[in-house]
Amino acid sequence: MLCLGIETSCDETAVALCRDGRPVLEKLASQIDVHALFGGVVPELASREHLRRMGPLLRALFAASGLTLADVDVIAVARGPGLLGSLLIGLAAAKGLALAAGKPLVGVDHLHAHLLAATLGRDDVAYPALGLLVSGGHTQLTLLRSPLSLTTLGRTLDDAAGEAFDKAAKSLNLPYPGGAYLDVLGQGLEADRDLFPRPYLDNQNLDFSFSGLKTAVATYVAAHPELRLSVMPAVTGPIEAARWPMELRRVCAAVNFAIADTLRVKIERALAGPASGAASLLAAGGVAANSRIRDMLATVAARHGLPLYLPPPALCADNATMIAAAGCRLAAAGLVHDLDLDAVPRGRKVPWDYRPGPPVDSRPFEQ
Ligand code: KG4
Ligand code: ZN
Repeated sequence: MLCLGIETSCDETAVALCRDGRPVLEKLASQIDVHALFGGVVPELASREHLRRMGPLLRALFAASGLTLADVDVIAVARGPGLLGSLLIGLAAAKGLALAAGKPLVGVDHLHAHLLAATLGRDDVAYPALGLLVSGGHTQLTLLRSPLSLTTLGRTLDDAAGEAFDKAAKSLNLPYPGGAYLDVLGQGLEADRDLFPRPYLDNQNLDFSFSGLKTAVATYVAAHPELRLSVMPAVTGPIEAARWPMELRRVCAAVNFAIADTLRVKIERALAGPASGAASLLAAGGVAANSRIRDMLATVAARHGLPLYLPPPALCADNATMIAAAGCRLAAAGLVHDLDLDAVPRGRKVPWDYRPGPPVDSRPFEQ
């Protein structure tokens, strides 16, 4: 089954093809340069960029793959949660293509797609799996009984882990989005691992709250104003840690430790509680590219004797391959939508409202 995936939920415009759940090709246009000027995503600009880039990206995808719309069996689109105006651009494109080519449409929960990206191209995934989703807008622990049966065990009550990274970066006057900067600048530095608190652990639940950490970093930087860069560096080329002040790098390392350690405690708590039967651990979302967090996950998985599934860093961040891959799974199980499919804005749960139909392909995935 060939699935076209479309992703426009935030600041990446992306289209991709997957065949039977395996990546074929992706074309992605990042808007980071547009939004970095404002220190965060400007929703109105994001919608306009999606609108401007969608057509050329689709044309480039088909030209480079040697495939046409007629070869596509199903069209998958991220339906939320995300920026409403941005989602509507992707949905309009997907519906237009589905209608024009007479292909089934499947709306994909962006968060579901992130989690499944950890298992992309694998046939040997052990379920149930405990999944950690860490992105710019979400931090949550999910139990996956199968690729299509998910239960959320805990979620963030305020800032997500990605927001904590981005706001810490903002305190230091590092460019947006700051997660990758904090990651690279903090690498290899162990001394200040306990400089910042591990927020919201003094409870019994599996929820997260990173706003206290944001405040702790902002307060620390205010007390040490020499840490804050006087001029925000240009966002070009690779990040070379050695060129940055050591005092700044030590703060970055401390933020990585605080976030990784907070995530670790809640993962361990889940494995001792509602996920005690987990046969594997997986993580996904932009923050899952973080090297300290990947190390922490490897340690936890090894301690519990669980296989660990992580997407390659490029598939941690928003992309359309994960939407196409999830679309393959859903359509293969006969789960599709009608053309009245609606978008789901940020902060709302995406409903499981698929219209059961015949499987699109005769090669079903294992469930
Ligand atoms: O999944 P994603 O691309 O978009 C959302 O769905 O939100 O996640 C974006 C987030 C941003 O907050 C960004 O700073 C963070 O992922 N991020 C990282 C790293 N790379 C991206 N955070 C920590 N370490 C990284 N290497
Ligand atoms: Zn995302």
